[in-house]
This record gives sequence, structure tokens and C-alpha cells, in this order.
Amino acid sequence: DGELSLSRSMINSSDKIIRKSGSSIFHHAVEGWKINSSLVMEIRKNILRFLDAERDVSVVKSSFKPGDVIHYVLDRRRTLNISQDLHSLLPEVSPMKNRRFKTCAVVGNSGILLDSGCGREIDSHDFVIRCNLAPVVEFAADVGTKSDFITMNPSVVQRAFGGFQNETDREKFVHRLSMLNESVLWIPAFMVKGGEKHVEWVNALILKNKLKVRTAYPSLRLIHAVRGYWLTNKVHIKRPSTGLLMYTLATRFCDEIHLYGFWPFPKDLHGKPVKYHYYDDLKYQYFSNASPHRMPLEFKTLYVLHNRGALKLTTGKCI
Ligand code: CTP
Repeated sequence: DGELSLSRSMINSSDKIIRKSGSSIFHHAVEGWKINSSLVMEIRKNILRFLDAERDVSVVKSSFKPGDVIHYVLDRRRTLNISQDLHSLLPEVSPMKNRRFKTCAVVGNSGILLDSGCGREIDSHDFVIRCNLAPVVEFAADVGTKSDFITMNPSVVQRAFGGFQNETDREKFVHRLSMLNESVLWIPAFMVKGGEKHVEWVNALILKNKLKVRTAYPSLRLIHAVRGYWLTNKVHIKRPSTGLLMYTLATRFCDEIHLYGFWPFPKDLHGKPVKYHYYDDLKYQYFSNASPHRMPLEFKTLYVLHNRGALKLTTGKCI
């Protein structure tokens, strides 16, 4: 509908702005930013037609019993057994039930955060969402430490914790989770086959160490619903990235959403190299067809929404 339609021409024109403008225009846009509360409400209402984040953020215990067999969401021919451990970690009710916040931060993992000095500002939000168990302590000045909700793709076990090969890796992981206290740990366990043993090891470590973290496992319909919402707004994204998923969910709970660490480009506006992740040496693969994501398209979409006051995108330094 008229209010929200993100037409291709709008996305293309923001593309030109991003490519051609010096940083001044972009930063000016940040300085003059003002929330558009009626647009925020309109977006929330429209997203609610596709999904209800309170419910879809996690399946609950009563959805399954141990031994149930389910089909992977993006790999329908493959199946997964709901184990006893997994079942015991499913929440009784949605961990986001009745939770409402004035301001939220969604923190992406781009290297654009390095040297941003945004830590204090990020931590000042009422609710802070982070992605993929990204480390914070060593980067606190730039990224903050508050983590109320944090995602963890099963691949993180291999990538950042050595596949739990030895005791040190497992201890490092348990330590990282214990720092989260009672925050929500969101594990997309039912998306694609491949990470099931990692999810099982994670579940076993949480239970063995009696960690307080509140586990959540996205509903089987979430990704389709999110994709459906963006498709109807003419944003053709096959596999929404974790960051876009988090923004979409946050619209249900947060009146004002601030995004940090979203910059899927190898250079900043001054031409200086930007790391793909602020904390590791993973390289950009997001310009090739090898990647399932379309982060640059997502970014342009978010940039349009920023300019319309629906969300605030910070890509520069925080004062
Ligand atoms: N992000 C970004 N620019 C980057 C890196 C990340 O905008 N250079 C955003 C994306 O929205 C991404 C989120 O930050 O989803 C978290 O980063 P990452 O952990 O890399 O995202 P994933 O979507 O989980 O990527 P992958 O599927 O490769 O694990």
C-alpha cells in the first residue's frame, strides 16, 4: 500500500546517493533524523499481517513432544528428530510475550563499528539485540556489552569455537553464554540440515552447566512470513539475513529501532577498507552468487526506511 511501498526507483535512487554522495550528505541525513511514529505503527500493523513476533520468535514446549520428526524449513526433504534435550530447552511461553520497549538497538556485525565509539549509545537503549554470538568485551567502546537477545547460527560452533574439539573451546563457549545471564539465546535450529549435532552439543552444554540463558528456536513459519512481508513491499529477498530478520521481529516490540553495524560494503564512504565482521577475518562473499543473502539490497531498503523516519541507521561515529 501507498505508505510503505518501497518501489524499485526509490531503492535505485538511494543507491545513487550512497555511491555518489560524499559522507556529508549521508551524515546530514543522520543528524536531521526524526522518528515518524505513524509510519512505525503502519509498518508494525503490516508486518503483523504476516507474522506475530511474540509467537513466531520461538516454538514452545507444547508444540512438540520428544521423538517428533520435523522437516527442515528450507530443506523440506530432510528431517530432524526433536531430542529430549532440545525439548527440555523449549520455552513454556514465548520469551518475548508482553515485552515492549521504547528504544531498541539491533547490532549487525559489520567492521564499520570499529572505531565508531558507539558502545555507550548502544548500551543506552532499553533492549539490545545482537547477532551470531559476536564477541563484545574486547570491543566494548565500539559495540557496547548489553545483550538482551542474541542469535546463534549453528555454524558459529565451528567458526568461533573450534567445533568444540577440545575442553578449552567448550569452556570458552560456556563462559560466553554465562555472561548472557537470563538473556534470550535464539538458535535457528530448524532452517537447514547440517548443524544438528552442533545444536545438540550446545543444548547439552547449557543443561550440564545449568546456564540461565533463555533459549528460543524460531517457528517453522517465521522465515517464509518475513520473506512474504518484504516481497509484498517489492523487496525480493530469498533468504533474509539475520540482521533483517531481527529488525522485522523488533518492529513488534520496539517503538524506536536503531541499527548499528549494518554496512555490507568493503569500503566506507571515504574509500577506507571495512572488515566484513568487526571481530574476525571472514571475507566478503556477499557480492557473489555463492551467498544466499542479498545484504546490499537489504541495506538500501533500510536506508530508504531511515530517510522516512521508520528506523535510524547509524553508520558513522557516535559522539
Ligand atoms: N551485516 C551487515 N554488514 C556486514 C556484516 C553484517 O549489514 N558487513 C548485518 C547483516 O544484516 C547480518 C547481521 O549484520 O545479518 C549479522 O552479521 P552476520 O553474523 O555476518 O550475519 P548472518 O546473516 O548470520 O550471516 P551468515 O548467514 O553468513 O552467517
